[in-house]
Amino acid sequence: MSNVIVLGAQWGDEGKGKVVDLLAERFDIVARYQGGHNAGHTVFIGEKKFVLKLIPSGILRGGVLAVIGNGVVVDLAALIEEMGTLEAAGIDVRRNLRISNRAHVIFPFHRLVEKMSEARENRIPIGTTARGIGPCYEDKIGRRGIRIADLFDSESFRLLYDTLAEDKRTLAATFDLRESIDYAGIRRQTEELAERIRPLVCDTSKLLHDAIAQSKRVLFEGAQGAMLDIDHGTYPFVTSSSATAGGASTGTGVPPTRINGVIGVSKAYITRVGSGPFPTESKDAAGDLLRREGNEYGAVTGRPRRCGWFDIPLLAYTAMVNGFDTIMMTKLDVLDQLDEIPVCVRYRVKGAEVCDMPATWRALEAVEPVYERLPGWKTSTRGISRYDALPAPARNYLTFLEDRTGVEIGGISTGPERTETIIRRGSALERLLG
Ligand code: GDP
Ligand code: IMO
Ligand code: MG
Repeated sequence: MSNVIVLGAQWGDEGKGKVVDLLAERFDIVARYQGGHNAGHTVFIGEKKFVLKLIPSGILRGGVLAVIGNGVVVDLAALIEEMGTLEAAGIDVRRNLRISNRAHVIFPFHRLVEKMSEARENRIPIGTTARGIGPCYEDKIGRRGIRIADLFDSESFRLLYDTLAEDKRTLAATFDLRESIDYAGIRRQTEELAERIRPLVCDTSKLLHDAIAQSKRVLFEGAQGAMLDIDHGTYPFVTSSSATAGGASTGTGVPPTRINGVIGVSKAYITRVGSGPFPTESKDAAGDLLRREGNEYGAVTGRPRRCGWFDIPLLAYTAMVNGFDTIMMTKLDVLDQLDEIPVCVRYRVKGAEVCDMPATWRALEAVEPVYERLPGWKTSTRGISRYDALPAPARNYLTFLEDRTGVEIGGISTGPERTETIIRRGSALERLLG
């Protein structure tokens, strides 16, 4: 097996950064396929902590090429800042990073459009990361966006930019937005920033195609999570891109026929940042314990993450739409102190018990989770790296989740460090990585 997708199975922050960093050593290239600097992937290597937002987590492995695919939206200032932070930590970013010439550019006015949209009367705020992600994708789909390649054709860029700026001016006037925006200044700044990344920009689809033709191995890194996907998530409380496995093809230009497997990264419980339905959310002391033990605060915005229990119908649904071959289960150690662990096995809807994911957020908000309670293990699993060294109730918990979701749990993470990981012998995960 060679090329695999790694993506979040819930509402983001499942620990994709740790998992991608861990697995990257077995690949030649790590390619991000959607999202932007709304993502926050925390990776610990020894004493060092890295928070990756736009740059694929694979950059932390010396010999691995990191690719920002065409499906990603790029804020040039944020990208250059992140490059600077990594360079200061001794990482050779300029050698190991490539950026798609077809990726769309986020401009500072996209953030203002988002602020306006979130504050609009009669609209339920999504609780976005306020990074301009949604408005940039709106311009992309609206066929008025500006791509990285456009920045290097100054005549065309000025024409496109002036049209886009005029569009935003009209929008601001319509909504009586009194922010003053220095459009000419933004254009000049964009031209300057573009020159700084110019040597890294190329046709990454061709790059990936050629690498695969030479039997090089590609790991596709998803950001956000399947339930934040624009089509399959809890719309409209989602992000504006295709976080699910299908996005890996459209977001990199690598066809599905060249991708061999899908690894879902799932937390041993669930978190969510921002608004939207969350059937198993625990708003009491147990939720506080998960937040405290799991240090569940947003890596990008610092917001406390909403916490709750593992949800079988949700995972069965994301396994279905992504075709998970296996699951990497993270943060098992966060459950160490619990006497018993509730798991939602079905949803109760108008008296009937079902396992299906409703299409609307209101319907999902109305479901009542049906719980089974599994015994806790009340002992530390932190750092365990062999499956048979896990306490019996912890293995029982994992087996229960496998049986009910129908998906193998091929790997388990027992701490943030690379070494704090179990990869099960004979699993599909081991075969995919082999
Ligand atoms: P991502 O967005 O999916 O990459 O996840 P985040 O980095 O936003 O959040 C996951 C957090 O959990 C990070 O701070 C990781 O260092 C941490 N983490 C990852 N795996 C484990 C684990 O198995 N146990 C514990 N205790 N922390 C973990
Ligand atoms: P990683 O990659 C968790 C959420 C926001 C909001 C919604 C839309 O670290 O898992 P956006 O700014 O994308 O338009 O916000 O999506 N969101 C995330 N939640 N982890 C993320 O990324 C997220 N990226 C966006 O909180 O609810
Ligand atoms: Mg995150």
